[in-house]
Amino acid sequence: MLASGSGTNLQALLDAHAVPPGLGVEFSLVLSDVPSARALARAEAASVPTAVVRWSDHPDRASFTTAVCDRVEASGAEAMVLAGFMRILGGEAIERYPNRILNIHPALLPAFPGVRAVEQALEHGVKVTGVTVHMVDEQVDHGPIVSQEPVPVFPDDDAEALHARLQAVEHRLYPAAVAAFAAGRLEVRGRTVIWR
Ligand code: GRF
Repeated sequence: MLASGSGTNLQALLDAHAVPPGLGVEFSLVLSDVPSARALARAEAASVPTAVVRWSDHPDRASFTTAVCDRVEASGAEAMVLAGFMRILGGEAIERYPNRILNIHPALLPAFPGVRAVEQALEHGVKVTGVTVHMVDEQVDHGPIVSQEPVPVFPDDDAEALHARLQAVEHRLYPAAVAAFAAGRLEVRGRTVIWR
């Protein structure tokens, strides 16, 4: 699991895994680029090993990516689950983990990719936004879509209120997607992910 921030999605995965039959996964590592990320404290509380790979310790994206992949591989992990990981991984990660990196995004992709997805939706005045779980490919917030769920936008919403509504959905959608992925139930055909 890779996270840069508060780690509420990590917590949702840990909590879902704690309820039998669990998610069918092993949490082998929580890795962050931010030493103070709350996600790391959540991992420690759940006795999951942690690692920090700092962006500033690396001259470029390629060497940062190699360091992240090497650390993930050393943990024994067979896949990566990204939630709020604020660094873009280079092509080596997709080569080493093809269709084995999941990400969650707080918008209905391909609408509002990149940072500030919640603010972008408010600025655009959409009535509906949502959550997307997708496989990571070479482009940002672009890979094959695993699952999506719409979330209404209300007239008085600010970014905080809307993000809270989105996160409640994230915390349900991501565990379901991760469990399906771990069970080998997600077949990727081109851009389409078929749930088996
Ligand atoms: C989530 O809203 C996710 O969609 C986005 O970053 C946020 C991470 O939240 N990519 P958290 O750290 O899991 O609380």
